Amino acid sequence: MHLLLVFLLPLITLHYSTQVANASSFSPSVLTQGSSLFVKKNDHLVSPNRVFTAGFHKIGQNAYCFAIWFSKPMYDGKLTLVWMANRDTPVNGQRSRFSLSKTGNLVLTDVGKGIWMSNTQTTSRLQLQLLDSGNLVLTQLEKKSYLWQSFSFPTDTLLPNQPFTKDTVLVSSRSSTNLSSGFYKLYFGNDNVIRLLYSNNEVTSVYWPQPWLLSWQAGRSPYNNSRNAFLDLKGCFQSTDDFKFTTIDHGVSLQRRLTLDVDGNIRVYSLNEKR
Ligand SMILES: *[C@@H]1O[C@H](CO)[C@@H](O)[C@H](O)[C@H]1NC(C)=O
Ligand SMILES: *[C@@H]1O[C@H](CO)[C@@H](O)[C@H](O)[C@H]1NC(C)=O
Repeated sequence: MHLLLVFLLPLITLHYSTQVANASSFSPSVLTQGSSLFVKKNDHLVSPNRVFTAGFHKIGQNAYCFAIWFSKPMYDGKLTLVWMANRDTPVNGQRSRFSLSKTGNLVLTDVGKGIWMSNTQTTSRLQLQLLDSGNLVLTQLEKKSYLWQSFSFPTDTLLPNQPFTKDTVLVSSRSSTNLSSGFYKLYFGNDNVIRLLYSNNEVTSVYWPQPWLLSWQAGRSPYNNSRNAFLDLKGCFQSTDDFKFTTIDHGVSLQRRLTLDVDGNIRVYSLNEKR
């Protein structure tokens, strides 16, 4: 029995590495300095576990955004986006590209015009890669640190272990068919309490926690100014203002996401593979 195990292990490893080599010949797993992903060629990056894909996603007639989504479509064929670079300024489907410049800036270009950029710069060697967590990172190869990461700039969704900080805001989409910035926001207020705000051109109002409650009446603590929250892998959300909840399917490590939906509710979704 013992011998068998020793032989089996290297076999499994070999098989795994062949699969990875095959996969990378179809879609690059990293973007290097001076290269681009082209909308027309349907170029994309895939995470090593293949759960996430980053590339151009069609959001309207000849309108695309650069996004990250779960590779597997839903039962209705739709993709679930978890991040967008340019939700408010879509690019066209002909000559747009997403490039990593030699100097270390990520730039989304629409017919020669810069639409979005990471505003990063470095003299060290870099590569852009999509991690298994769904985080798109610009890695400084010598320092092994991130110059930029999509996790620091969420749109309407947080993935497990993506930090929600004093600098991050979730903004809902306009509607289920229009993914541009909508009316609801989740953020940490100056009083260190995490809250939801509705805001259009005429009205701005906090609706959670209920504005007539003092923070302690709402079960919140204003004393921790580190302002940090996250959803863990098992479905528990925790914030430094003492707000906490667990999902009903808590405990199993499923594919989950927390989204500020178009109706102003926060929901945690988990993938049900049985559909
Ligand atoms: C989405 O909504 C924004 C804001 O109202 C609007 O400017 C834009 O044209 C809409 N996009 C689509 C594809 O309908
Ligand atoms: C604030 O929250 C952080 C993160 O949970 C924790 O490590 C720290 O001890 C807290 N500080 C206080 C004063 O409670």
